[in-house]
Amino acid sequence: MRRSGSILSGAAARWLPERVPDGSIRRAENQSRTGEAVADVKRVVVLVSGHGSNLQALLDAAAEPASGMAVVLVLADRPGAHGLERARRARVDTAVVRPADHPDRRSFDLALRDLVAAARPDVVCLAGFMRILGPEFVRAFPGRILNTHPSLLPAFRGAHAVREALAYGVKVTGCTVHLVDEEVDHGPVLFQSAVPVEPGDDEDRLHERIKQEEHRLLPLAVRLLAEGRVRVEGRRAQLVTAEEVSR
Ligand code: GRF
Repeated sequence: MRRSGSILSGAAARWLPERVPDGSIRRAENQSRTGEAVADVKRVVVLVSGHGSNLQALLDAAAEPASGMAVVLVLADRPGAHGLERARRARVDTAVVRPADHPDRRSFDLALRDLVAAARPDVVCLAGFMRILGPEFVRAFPGRILNTHPSLLPAFRGAHAVREALAYGVKVTGCTVHLVDEEVDHGPVLFQSAVPVEPGDDEDRLHERIKQEEHRLLPLAVRLLAEGRVRVEGRRAQLVTAEEVSR
């Protein structure tokens, strides 16, 4: 569903970013691959707040000819998120939904939910999206939302995981790619990778090494989930073979 506001594209879109109304979709110019035209390409919607290096890993993976997936929409909660620029460069539709434009959290969640649902995603990926999503959003995409978090969950949940791991003095931290449920940084774990803390690490340096692992695991997790190759029993997520999917 397209919400209020105009759809801008081309040169106008580039020069009028501040006039893009909250929630309207900025259509990408000359989209090379939206997933509409190619049968059975899995549709991925990505939510970002900032730099977007994980988004870039997804865009790069989707650009591989045999990937079988396309990023069809990138959504941000603030217009300055650099991830939006990455999406535009990759000719992917973008939209911004700002909490400040909504009277409360629920209506923000509903606006996000409607935009994401309109893109008909096979997978919704939170890639550095720094907002807590409410139950209306999570329930709309059951078992289809992935998040990446820069710690070995359940250690160091929340927004400052790398800083807190350093402050605690752990020798090993890492990242976790997990399914999203209604609790923060909590759903079933798909992949984890350990990253040793090195002497002299500061938050940025350690986070960069953790991100390298996220960039490796997140596209893989998105693809496997999109292909239906993730089975969940309770807290346990397991991978099944392609043959098992078709059974
Ligand atoms: C990642 O480390 C992610 O786990 C965390 O925020 C960071 C986002 O980085 N939630 P980027 O915007 O993808 O570069």
